[in-house]
Amino acid sequence: MRTLWQHCHAATMVDGRYAIIEDAAIVTCAGLIEWIGPRSELRPVEAERTVDLGYAWVTPGLIDCHTHAVFGGNRSGEFEQRLQGVSYAEIAAQGGGIASTVRATRAASEDELFASARQRVQALMRDGVTTLEVKSGYGLDLANERKMLRVARRLADELPLSVRATCLAAHALPPEYAGRADDYITHICDEMLPALAAEGLVDAVDAFCEHLAFSPAQVERVFIKAHELGLPVKLHAEQLSSLHGSSLAARYQALSADHLEFMTEEDAIAMAAAGTVAVLLPGAFYFLRETELPPMEALRRHGVNIALASDLNPGTSPGLSLRLMLNMGCTLFRMTPEEALAGVTTHAATALGLGDSHGSLEAGKVADFVAWHIERPADLAYWLGGDLPKRVVRRGHEISN
Ligand code: NIG
Ligand code: FE
Repeated sequence: MRTLWQHCHAATMVDGRYAIIEDAAIVTCAGLIEWIGPRSELRPVEAERTVDLGYAWVTPGLIDCHTHAVFGGNRSGEFEQRLQGVSYAEIAAQGGGIASTVRATRAASEDELFASARQRVQALMRDGVTTLEVKSGYGLDLANERKMLRVARRLADELPLSVRATCLAAHALPPEYAGRADDYITHICDEMLPALAAEGLVDAVDAFCEHLAFSPAQVERVFIKAHELGLPVKLHAEQLSSLHGSSLAARYQALSADHLEFMTEEDAIAMAAAGTVAVLLPGAFYFLRETELPPMEALRRHGVNIALASDLNPGTSPGLSLRLMLNMGCTLFRMTPEEALAGVTTHAATALGLGDSHGSLEAGKVADFVAWHIERPADLAYWLGGDLPKRVVRRGHEISN
C-alpha cells in the first residue's frame, strides 16, 4: 500500500545531520520510503492513503544499539550497597554483579525471560524505538546463552520492532570455569559460537575486555572465531581502565566499540580508520557515578562516528528511556542535541551493521519513523524522559504505543 504522509517537518539525519525539510511530504510503499522532500516538490502520486501529521517533526525511528534487555531478577540490592560506598568491582569480586544476574537468568524459564524482557522493551518502544540490539551474556553456557538469544528472536516475532541479537558469551567467567578463563574461551570458540551461529541465533559477537572480565588476547581469540563464522564483532572496551580493546576492535573491523571512557587518542585514530562506531553509554557512566569522561574532542577530531545507547541492564544501567540517554549524552558528555539524535539514528544503525537500510529518512530506506509533537528537534534531548506525544511508523505502518 502506498501512503502519503504530509503536513510535517523532517529532520532526515542523512549523514548524521538534522538536514531539515520544512513542510515535508513522505511517500512510503512496501515498507520503504519511496520519496521524501518538500511538499511543494511532490509530483502527483497515487496513494491509497493520505495521512495528515499535524505539522509534527518527523525523525527516523530511534535505534537502541546496545542493550542487555533479557535477564532474570534485578540488582537493586547492589544499588543500595553501592550507595553505601561499595564499588562495582568489589561487588563483582564478592560473587555479585554479573554473576548474580547469571544465577537468576539460568534459573528463569524462556517464557519468564520473555515476559520480563517484553515489558522493558515496550518501555523503550514508548520512547520511539523501532530497532533494538539485544545481547546474551547472562547465560554463559550453551543452553542458557541459547535461551537468551531465542528470547531476543521472539521479541522481534511478537513485537513490531526489529531486533539484532548479539552473542556476548565472553561477558564474564561462569562459576564452573573459575580460574580457567582460557578454557572458557576455548569452549566459546569450539562449542558455543559454532552451535549458536548454526542455529541462526547470532547477528554479531561481543565480548567484555576488562581486568574483571577478559584480556585483549582472550578477546582476540573470540574475534578470530567470529570472523571464521562470518560474523561481525563488537566490544565492551575501556569502561573501567585502558586495555586498548578499542584498537583491537578496530583491527577486526568491529561494528562498534562501546563505553570508551578510558580510550586514548591512538584508539580513536584506529577506530576512525576502521569505521568502527564509538557507542557511548551515559546511563552506565551516570549510574556507576564514574568521573572519567569519554574523550569527545579526540573522537570528533578524528571523525569517529558516535552513537548513544541505553545499555539497559540490571547492574550498571537500568535505563528504560533512550531519550533520557539523549539528555545525558548532552549534559554529561557535552554532546550537542544534533549529535545525540544522530547517535540514536544514523550512527546507531551503522553500529548494528544496518547503515544501508536504517537510521535516516531517504528514499530506499526502511520506512521506520516517528512523528513527534514537539517544537524543534532539540526538544528530544531536552525533556528528561516522559512520554512525548507522537505517532510511530514501522515499515510504513503506524503502530500503537
Ligand atoms: O555494559 N560492562 C559490562 N556489561 C554491562 C554490565 C552488566 C552487568 O553489570 O550486569 C555494561 O555495563
Ligand atoms: Fe553493555
